[in-house]
Amino acid sequence: MDMERVNACIHENLQSDIMMIPAIGHYIVNSGGKRLRPLLCLLIARLFDYKGDSHIPLSVVIEFIHTASLLHDDVVDSSDQRRGSPSANGVWGNQASVLVGDYLFSRAFQMMVADGDMAMLKLMSDVTNALAEGEVLQLSRTFHLGMTEAECLEVIERKTAVLFKAASEVGAHVSGQRPEVVADLADYGMCLGVAFQLMDDALDYLAEAEEAGKPVGHDLEEGKITLPLIHAMQRDSELAKRVEEISERGSYQGDDRQWVRERVAAQGGAEYAMQRARDYAQRAKGRLPEGENCEIRALLAELADFSAHRPY
Ligand code: IPE
Ligand code: IPE
Ligand code: MG
Ligand code: MG
Repeated sequence: MDMERVNACIHENLQSDIMMIPAIGHYIVNSGGKRLRPLLCLLIARLFDYKGDSHIPLSVVIEFIHTASLLHDDVVDSSDQRRGSPSANGVWGNQASVLVGDYLFSRAFQMMVADGDMAMLKLMSDVTNALAEGEVLQLSRTFHLGMTEAECLEVIERKTAVLFKAASEVGAHVSGQRPEVVADLADYGMCLGVAFQLMDDALDYLAEAEEAGKPVGHDLEEGKITLPLIHAMQRDSELAKRVEEISERGSYQGDDRQWVRERVAAQGGAEYAMQRARDYAQRAKGRLPEGENCEIRALLAELADFSAHRPY
């Protein structure tokens, strides 16, 4: 019910007399995203029995920021598939994706101004800034072969988890919760977000493209040194050597993709990242408040588990 209102609000806010904007906007928002971030915000508002309406446009703000970051991310990552279809940059080109991404970011800010809660504007402007920093940080660590687990987690927190954190925080804030409770929910969102990205990084080494709906085996090709690879390289010096060669060349060649995938699998790299994801999901669940609506609490716990067990 609330999600239907979110979808209606998404469509209302994609209107523009510049036809390319609704065309690309509808293409991407109708392409089957999981709507996880709005779902978090809506569920947390429900957890606290929130009776107002602000959670609807604010959930849309979060989904727009997410969608804008995907439009930009697929350009940066030269990725031609998203949600099982050609990515927007694959259909309309890089320029259109960057510009419509900018449109979505700015529309999100217009919507927050309309909402009028200065605390939300501060939270969301900080988070948008952190996301941009996270993406730049990741870029600056392209083919950084000495990447440690801690450095990897820093990128994950900044490029992905902060938006999950914000989604949870917004749900608790609009419901008028005490700062300690808002902080617990923020931490729940942050840990869930880390679990979610660790799983995404594991799936890049495990999944098939059809189930992922986007290219797999692609992270290393783009110079992203993620946890499955870090774990495996620490245990397999031949793998580390081959990764160095790929890094010098700047692209895959011959059987690189398959070979790296097999060596990472042999060292249990993806399993290690999934185990870490599960640890974060446990931590997330530990921050859910007792004594509230237990049905919704159980759903939030399931969502944390889903983030660390999802097949796509
Ligand atoms: C994809 O996020 C980007 C990452 C943070 C890994 P989602 O997997 O939530 O994307 P959609 O919206 O469901 O397609
Ligand atoms: C998440 O990183 C990107 C954003 C947070 C925008 P990825 O680059 O791993 O996401 P996918 O795999 O393309 O969905
Ligand atoms: Mg990407
Ligand atoms: Mg990925």
